[in-house]
Order: sequence, then C-alpha cells, then structure tokens
Amino acid sequence: MKRLVCHRYGPPKDLVLENAPWPEPGPGQVSVRVGATGLGFVDGLLIAGKYQIQPPLPYVPGSEFAGTVEALGAGVEGLAVGDAVYGLGQGTLAEGALAPASQVYALPGGLSLAQGASLPINSFTALYGLEDCIRLAPGERMLVLGGGGGVGTAAIAVAKALGAWIVAGASSPAKAQAARAAGADAVVNPHLDSFREDLKAALGGEALTVVYDPVGGSFSEAAFRSLSPGGRHGVVGFASGTIPKLPLNLALLKRSSVVGVDWGGAMRADPTLNPRLAARLRVLLESGALTAPPVDARPLEAVVSALEDQLAGAIAGKLVITQAPEGA
Ligand SMILES: NC(=O)c1ccc[n+]([C@@H]2O[C@H](COP(=O)([O-])OP(=O)(O)OC[C@H]3O[C@@H](n4cnc5c(N)ncnc54)[C@H](OP(=O)(O)O)[C@@H]3O)[C@@H](O)[C@H]2O)c1
Repeated sequence: MKRLVCHRYGPPKDLVLENAPWPEPGPGQVSVRVGATGLGFVDGLLIAGKYQIQPPLPYVPGSEFAGTVEALGAGVEGLAVGDAVYGLGQGTLAEGALAPASQVYALPGGLSLAQGASLPINSFTALYGLEDCIRLAPGERMLVLGGGGGVGTAAIAVAKALGAWIVAGASSPAKAQAARAAGADAVVNPHLDSFREDLKAALGGEALTVVYDPVGGSFSEAAFRSLSPGGRHGVVGFASGTIPKLPLNLALLKRSSVVGVDWGGAMRADPTLNPRLAARLRVLLESGALTAPPVDARPLEAVVSALEDQLAGAIAGKLVITQAPEGA
C-alpha cells in the first residue's frame, strides 16, 4: 500500500510517497482501508516541525480518516470487516492505517467518505466546545473567527444545528462562501479596520454572546470587546500564529468569560468523550438538524500543493485528501 512519509521536518514537498506492507492490527486495534484523510492546520505545522509536539521521525502524517474496516485485532467487538467507518488513527495519509477500535465509528448514513473524514477533529471539537464548555443556547448570536476554515466551518454547522444565529469572520470570497455553505447567517471580514462596526451592523442591534476563536492574534480582543453581558469567548486555537493577551478588566467590564476549549486534552482525560460525541453527532446528522460542513477534497497525488495551501491559510472549508474515487 502507498503512504506519505515525513523523513525530516520541512516543507510538504519533502514528503516521500512509499510502498509499505499492509498494517497488521494488534489487540484492540482495527486496520482500515482509508478512502479519505482529513487534514488541518496542525498537520502542516507538524510536518514542518513547528508544532508544540514533534513526532519521532520517520512518521506518516494524518490522524483522521473515513474508509472501510480491513481487519480486526484480537478482542475487537462491535465492528466487522467491510464496515464503512470514520474516526481517529495513526498515519492516515496512506491507503491503510491502524486505529484503536474505541476511536472508530460507523459512518453516518448519507455521508461521503470525504465528508466522514472531515468530522472527527473539527466536529468533535465543535460539539465539545459549544455544548460542554461554552454551553451554547438556542437563539444565541455567535461570532466564529476563521469561519471559512476547517475548524470554523465545523463550528458553524454544529452551532446552526443547536439553534444559534451565526456571523462568520472570513477574509476572502471563497472562505465567505464556505462559511455560508456551513450555515452562517452573515459574514464580516476581521482583517478590515471596520471589523467591529461591520460586526455591529451584521448583528442588527442584537446582543453577541458567544465567540468561537480558532485564530487568536489581534482579532481576539476586538471580538471580546464586542461581547454583551453573559458573553463567553471560546479559546480554540491560534492559527494567526500570535497568542493574544487580554486585559482582565475587560472580563469585568463586559461581564463576560474566557472559556478554554481543549478537545485533545479532554479526550485524553476521558476515554468516553469521543464515543459520546460520535453518538451525538450521528443523531444530529441523521435527524437532518446538522449538515456536514463543506470540504475541499483533493486527490492523493495533489497532497503537496494541498498542504502548501493549508499552511498559507488558503483552504476554504476542510481539506480532505481522497485515496480513491468515491465508490471505487
Ligand atoms: N482546541 C482544540 O481542541 C482544537 C482542535 C482542532 C484544531 N484546533 C486549532 O484550530 C486552529 C484552526 O485550525 P484549522 O484546521 O481550522 O485551520 P484553517 O482551516 O487553516 O483555518 C484557520 C483560519 O485562520 C485564519 N487565519 C488568520 N491568520 C492566519 C494565518 N496567519 N495563517 C493561517 N490562518 C490564518 C484564516 O481565516 P481568515 O483568512 O478568514 O482570517 C484561516 O482560514 C488551529 O490553530 C488548530 O490548532 C484546536
């Protein structure tokens, strides 16, 4: 089987396409024939060696997938060879990968493999962040920064399903379109000096009570200052590369809170979290309340340019690499 290998940290063009034996699942593991791999901002940083964690070399990038179960390790129950699944595994930028059975879930009905591969990280983070941490209530008005990116479009889709009214921050027509496709009711450009005025106009006099922030930088304080009493600013990530500092008097003056959203830490602390989130996601998707967020699906042959675009912040929606045409 083919797989992309990172032998040294650097630009995506340094990845090497190699052949390798099919992975054999150990106890509690599943091997999956990967049909699609979800990639995010973090994957580009990991390959470059610029993330807070540096995987030991060589390694195969990718940690989310959709595909079919190829083989079951000892003790695995509830899954069968040939099942259509999605989930979290290791080295998923390959035709085959291993995953712990506890992180492999039946693909919800009606979803393509590309849509399934887009779900684990971003939609689990959105559900955990919005329901468990921020406690989003129906009817609330929410700003999603990076609303045209992978994390942002997933948050918009989930917030829509939970009954929120959403304004997305997006810097280009393509990202604005992705945000609207995910369910945004309005779009503003946070890069403009008029950001706060534009946000106010988009809200039409209604109170902003939630910010979902995977971007950081100078946008964060501007967004926090726009909150109404009872507001919650969800800290999700720092795609801008700058961790903002917030004067604490703002929390007092705005009667608002900063809420940390660390899905990765939460899932490591609680092994029941992801199975619960997957079950919740299935209910929302299959009831029609939740629409899968938009994907930018590219073939495995185009992975280098896709990762370059990801690092440049130029992907609209969620980047997904497809190993084989749907249905092949
Ligand atoms: N907390 C968690 O549990 C969790 C889980 C998953 C991911 N994350 C984090 O979420 C963040 C976003 O990930 P993602 O996969 O959604 O990334 P993405 O698809 O690339 O989207 C990030 C967005 O950030 C904005 N941005 C502003 N300045 C940027 C810059 N200098 N470089 C790149 N983007 C910039 C861009 O939107 P505009 O151009 O419209 O401004 C871009 O669309 C990452 O920091 C990741 O680590 C956190």
